[in-house]
Amino acid sequence: MNERVSVLLKNFNIEEFQKSLIEWFQEEKRNLPWRADKDPYKIWVSEVMLQQTRVDTVIPYFYRFIEKYPNIEALANADEQELLKTWEGLGYYSRVKNLQAAVKEVQTQYGGVVPDEKKTFSKLKGVGPYTTGAVLSIAYNKPIPAVDGNVMRVLSRIFEIEDDIIKVRTRKLFEELVEEIISREDPSSFNQGLMELGALICKPTSPDCLLCPVRDHCRAFQHGTETRLPVKSKQKKGRTVQYIAAILLDERGKVVIRKRPDEGLLASLWEFPNEEVISGKKNMIIDFENEWLDKYGANVDLLEPLCVVEHVFSHLTWKIHAFVGLVKGELPQNMKVVAFEEVDEYPFPVPYQKMWKEYKKKIAI
Ligand code: ADE
Repeated sequence: MNERVSVLLKNFNIEEFQKSLIEWFQEEKRNLPWRADKDPYKIWVSEVMLQQTRVDTVIPYFYRFIEKYPNIEALANADEQELLKTWEGLGYYSRVKNLQAAVKEVQTQYGGVVPDEKKTFSKLKGVGPYTTGAVLSIAYNKPIPAVDGNVMRVLSRIFEIEDDIIKVRTRKLFEELVEEIISREDPSSFNQGLMELGALICKPTSPDCLLCPVRDHCRAFQHGTETRLPVKSKQKKGRTVQYIAAILLDERGKVVIRKRPDEGLLASLWEFPNEEVISGKKNMIIDFENEWLDKYGANVDLLEPLCVVEHVFSHLTWKIHAFVGLVKGELPQNMKVVAFEEVDEYPFPVPYQKMWKEYKKKIAI
């Protein structure tokens, strides 16, 4: 055992801790749709959705997703654009593309059965140590740690660990610790118990220690240090990039949309035509119109401002100055002209959905 872990486990009653955590989980667990059965596919889908998104947000997406893609085969054969449309609004779209790639491999290499071996499952696309532990423990009852930010918060308090949870080394320490304390009889309830404790009791700002089933084991509670933990260094705030974007109508009143590149941020989603606003330039409207004339030979006339939309990504903020305009002439290849009613059939990033909503509001008046 790692020496640091053995020091942390001194005077820690593992069996009592497991018993209190698991009993509490059995009594108090939320009735969540992915807990209705132990289907590894559904559990996998839920864990991928839950990686960057809150439970309340995930629930309706999960129902819709499973209705549309009820099993491995259905997801393996899904049309990518339809799949992105189903994921629209959840963000981090590479998650679902990786999931589909992984599921295709399960279909072709493993006869459509989610592998239950850590070595095999963790090699699939997009599957990291957290997903491996979560899926294999919940679906197959394997004693593998599933350490995410919530679990690190809970354990940093119980063991009074002050290491910065942003660091990969710290996550590894927590994984080594869980290897030692995880229940071998019921790893599924143990891991889910830690997650549930983080969600219901051991909350980030105001933990309900008086209701906590493992407070007798919690060093932070004993010392009153719970609200100082976990230690998490501030991530650098991302830079802001400004765009001018337009709902452009052609001569027949159809709407111009454009597909984003197949790699990079929000890959393969659709957007309204936009150009980056270079700071220091004076008139973004004239610049946009000139750029379209120069680049594509198209005549654009931006008529009126629509709204300003800000969208914060983990590493970057977009500020989009949206306009409504008209376009005449040839359009470049990656653009498409669609009828008003068809726009909603395409997957758009949230800021462009907002822009479209504003436009619909405006023309309804
Ligand atoms: N967060 C991540 N995975 C979860 C799960 N299986 N149940 C509840 N919350 C979670």
